[in-house]
Formats: sequence, structure tokens, C-alpha cells
Amino acid sequence: MNTMLLGAWKTALRFCGTVFNEVGFYLVRKLLWRFRRPRYFILLGPPGSGKGTLARQLAPALQVPPMSTGDVFRREKAANTNFGKQVTAHLADGTLVPDSLTLAIVRRELISPRFWFGAMEDGFPRTIEQAIAFDLLLARWGASVERVVLLDVDDDALVDRLSNRRTCTNKACGRTYNLKYERSVEAGICDACGAATAQRDDDVPEVISARLRTYRVETKPLCNYYQDRKVLASFKPTGDMTAQEVFVLVKTALQG
Ligand code: AP5
Repeated sequence: MNTMLLGAWKTALRFCGTVFNEVGFYLVRKLLWRFRRPRYFILLGPPGSGKGTLARQLAPALQVPPMSTGDVFRREKAANTNFGKQVTAHLADGTLVPDSLTLAIVRRELISPRFWFGAMEDGFPRTIEQAIAFDLLLARWGASVERVVLLDVDDDALVDRLSNRRTCTNKACGRTYNLKYERSVEAGICDACGAATAQRDDDVPEVISARLRTYRVETKPLCNYYQDRKVLASFKPTGDMTAQEVFVLVKTALQG
């Protein structure tokens, strides 16, 4: 009985949250967007190209919060929600979560207060279908994608980066480190929040290869899609470029 009551209470809370977000976002669009235009940016690139690192660094500079679909899926999985149950197998084998599910989650995130004035998309869209649906959604709201940056990093560097990546286990922090290029001061402990750092389940050789394959087949074609729309800027960061140099280049490209 108690479990049923708790379930009903959670459903009611979720419903109220959705109504608040829908109404709030509608009012923001109608009343506030004329004073502050929303900005939607996309970071495109293979796994390990630095999208997450850059999205976090760029957020304060461009005043646009980062949205990582991968992080959202991992949060849903950890909370064992309905969405979480449906994405678990895809996270484990490096295939893409179905478009319909991804689009529903992205829309839900975009109407939440954190993203009322735009987002720096990290890992979305990843298929032509997702890109078309995203353009349509934004067009319905009277907005559009402002700029897309492609981080074109070589496969060898990607495998090296991902195998050595360690991620803060505190979901609210999520900072990434690298055993070769960017270690935490104390091994295994996040400098930012003091939580433990760990290797992501999908940062193991078999899954890394699968993710790279998925990227080449499903996501790479998006470059032409955004090139045709004249919003794409491509970078091929070389091994001797520091993360700071990449950041400055990408920030300049996004600022137009
Ligand atoms: P997701 O979590 O998005 O993973 P990903 O795209 O594979 O990208 P990563 O987070 O692994 O890499 P990143 O480019 O952010 O690199 P990072 O900055 O961490 O997605 C996971 C899964 O979710 C997917 O496999 C799929 O199943 C599903 N999914 C997600 N979005 C989806 C969608 N739209 N549709 C369907 N399914 C979806 O950097 C990596 C390492 O390199 C770090 O150690 C970092 O310190 C280091 N590094 C970063 N920059 C530099 C630099 N300039 N020089 C040297 N080292 C650097």
C-alpha cells in the first residue's frame, strides 16, 4: 500500500513539474525572448573529441548551459526510470538510443528552466532524423541553431583519450580527468568536489570501437547537413595543441 502511495505521489509530482515547465517555457518564449534571444549551439564530433570538456568551459563565456544527452541518459539509468530502463542496453553496447526516445528526452530537457534561454548541445543531434526534428522543433518556437562546431580528432588520439579518461562520480559535478593529460591532484579524487573519480562503463576497448563505428555511420553525415545550412565550422585539433588553445579557437568560432 505504502509503495502504491509513493508511486502515485511521484507521478503527481512529475505531472506538476511538467505542467510548470510547459507553462513557464511558453510565457518565457512569448514575453522574454524578444528581450533576450535564446542561443542554441551544437558541438559535433566523435566520442572523446572533447565535446563535454569544451561545453563545460564554454558555458560561462557564452552564457549558455551545456546539455549532454549522454549525461541525461546515464542519470535516467542510475535513477532506474522508465526512460533509464530503455536506454541501458544502448549505453552498454555503444549503439544509439532510438530517435523517438532521444527526441522526447531532449524536448523535456529544453523546456526546463535551466535551458529556457538556449543550450550548448553536446552529443545531440547524432542522426539526420534527429537534426531535422531539432530544426523543426526550434522553428516552431521561433528559434534556430546558431552555430555548429565539428571537432575532427584522429581515431588513435580518441582511443588514447577515452581509455585514460576518468570521470567524477558526483553527477552534479561530472568533471573529467585524463591519466595522461590532466590528472587530478590526488589520484582518484575529484579536485572540484572531492568525490571519487572512476572509469565510465563504455570507456573500455570493445565499446569504444563500437561507439566510433556508430559515429562514422550515423553521425558523420551531419557535417554535410550543417555545411549546407552554412552554420558549420570544422577544426582538426593537432596533438601539439593545448586544451586552452582549442577552447579559444572554438569560442571564437561560436561567437561568429
Ligand atoms: P556520450 O556520453 O555523449 O559519449 P560520446 O559522444 O561518446 O562522447 P564522450 O562523452 O565519450 O566524449 P567527449 O567528446 O565529450 O569527450 P570529453 O570532453 O569527455 O554518449 C554515450 C552514449 O549515449 C552513446 O554511446 C549513445 O548510446 C547514447 N547517446 C548519447 N546521445 C545520443 C543521441 N543524441 N542519440 C542517440 N543516442 C545517444 O574528453 C575525452 C577525454 O579527452 C577526457 O579525458 C579529456 O580530459 C580529454 N581531452 C579533452 N579535450 C582534450 C584536448 N584538447 N587535448 C587532450 N585531451 C583532451
